[in-house]
This record gives sequence, structure tokens and C-alpha cells, in this order.
Amino acid sequence: MKNILLFSGSNSSKSVNQSLIVAISGLLENANVTVIDLRNFSMPFYSSETEQTEGIPENAVKLKQLIDQTDALVIAVPEHNGSIPAFFKNSMDWLSRVEKKYKILTNKAVFLLSASPFGGGGGSITHAETILKRLGASIAGKIVVNKFHEQLQPVDGKFQFKDELLLKEISEITNRLMQ
Ligand SMILES: Cc1cc2nc3c(=O)[nH]c(=O)nc-3n(C[C@H](O)[C@H](O)[C@H](O)COP(=O)(O)O)c2cc1C
Repeated sequence: MKNILLFSGSNSSKSVNQSLIVAISGLLENANVTVIDLRNFSMPFYSSETEQTEGIPENAVKLKQLIDQTDALVIAVPEHNGSIPAFFKNSMDWLSRVEKKYKILTNKAVFLLSASPFGGGGGSITHAETILKRLGASIAGKIVVNKFHEQLQPVDGKFQFKDELLLKEISEITNRLMQ
């Protein structure tokens, strides 16, 4: 059984991207699934001086350990001004400094998504793909989920897919991750 780690690149308590990865986690029945909230792995804003004086943040080491134990990742990254949020980039930058090897996602398959309540997400996917590949990941699939609230609906406090086509597209990629 594959180990799959899911997180979003949002630090919002009402994140649609976090809601999306929680909904996707419910589709991964034949895998060991770990869903985390990156807000629980907060790190200072990266600077070389902070690294030299304070060292690598404990949360970066913890997150790297979780990634080392996983076979594949599902990551949903919000779009901020046509790109990824600084919060997400900061986490990736610290992760790449944990052992100073940079290629921390080598041999990891990543299913990359971007959700928006509006019409965006494409710029975030493009930029996140560049960074994740730079860290060694192979991209198993990419999906933009715009108009989030038209495609998913809340049921008992969690979001579920109401758009059958979207559910089918996502399931095809998650099934590949579990093989
Ligand atoms: C600084 C900032 C920039 C944004 N830029 C974009 C954008 O370029 N395209 C877009 O579709 N939405 C943009 N948004 C709206 C976000 O996509 C929206 O807030 C979304 O809910 C964020 O994802 P989250 O809920 O998972 O945090 C922006 C929001 C903020 C705060």
C-alpha cells in the first residue's frame, strides 16, 4: 500500500485548497493517507542570516521527515497574483535547505492542483510545477479547480464533489498514485 501525503499551500483557516485536499483524501481508500495543515509547520521567513544564526527550523525537519516517508503527494496551491503564495514558497525554500541537497522530492510523484472560488489557478500551477520539478518531483497530473463552490458542496462539515466530470478526472490521477 502506498503512503500518500496531502497538503495545501494556503495559510487561510477557510482555505478552499485545504478543503479540496481533504475531499481528495476521501477518495484514497487503498493507501496510507496523511493530511496535514501547513499552518502547523510554520517557519520564519527565509534568510541566510536566520539559517546561520538559528539553524534549520524544527518544523522544516519534521516536514522533510514526513516527505521522506511518503511515496506520493497531493498538493493544492492557491493563486496569488498569478503565482504561488509566499507562504508556500517559503516552506519549499526551507525544505530544500534541510540537508542542503535541494532535490528533496526525488522519486516522489506529485498530483498538483489549484483551487479558486473565482476563475484563476493556472498561473499558480505553472509556477508550482517549475519549483516542484526543480526539487526533483515528477508531476503525475495537474488540475485547476476554479469556481470551487460550483464544483464541490459542503456535506456534514466537509466538501464533496458534485461535478461528476471533475470527480472522474481527479479519480483517474489518484488511482495512478495508488498503483
Ligand atoms: C494577495 C492575493 C492575490 C490573489 N491573486 C489571485 C489571482 O491571481 N488569481 C485568482 O484566481 N485569485 C487570486 N486571489 C484569490 C485567491 O485565489 C482566493 O483568495 C483563494 O480562496 C485562495 O485560496 P485559499 O482559500 O486556499 O487560501 C488572490 C488572493 C490574494 C489574497
